[in-house]
Amino acid sequence: ATEQTLVLVKPDGVARGLTGAILARIEAKGYSLVDIRLVEPDRERLEQHYAEHAGKPFYEPLLEFMMSGPSVAIRLAGNRVIEGFRSLAGTTDPTTAAPGTIRGDFGRDWGLAVQQNLVHGSDSVESANRELAIWFD
Ligand code: CMP
Repeated sequence: ATEQTLVLVKPDGVARGLTGAILARIEAKGYSLVDIRLVEPDRERLEQHYAEHAGKPFYEPLLEFMMSGPSVAIRLAGNRVIEGFRSLAGTTDPTTAAPGTIRGDFGRDWGLAVQQNLVHGSDSVESANRELAIWFD
């Protein structure tokens, strides 16, 4: 069925000038851009978005990183787009993400407390609906 998902080009992707390259892969795959905006999230928005990670060792560094610059938020649509974008993105750790994926081709470990892994993609229909409401209010 047609789904929608939230994709974020995180601050590292925007700062490194990779937004266009990432969008090109999404468009080449054939998914539809429904909405797109540049967002500088405040702490409250990030606490909502990352509620499931509260208390984890990387939580504070993650929020600091996500407040370090703008992200590009994308409302993306297509059949099985949630699974499909996560496949394009690759696994969480950019060091071992498969070559050919966004994280595998453009990401690496910078020795920081948080994994700067360029993109976020919702992991389920429920997450997508929740996260889209947070970033597109
Ligand atoms: P994301 O998919 O946006 O969801 C949570 C984020 O936390 C993740 O991408 C990474 O940026 C970061 N992250 C996840 N696991 C770790 C970890 N073990 N150490 C540091 N950062 C992490």
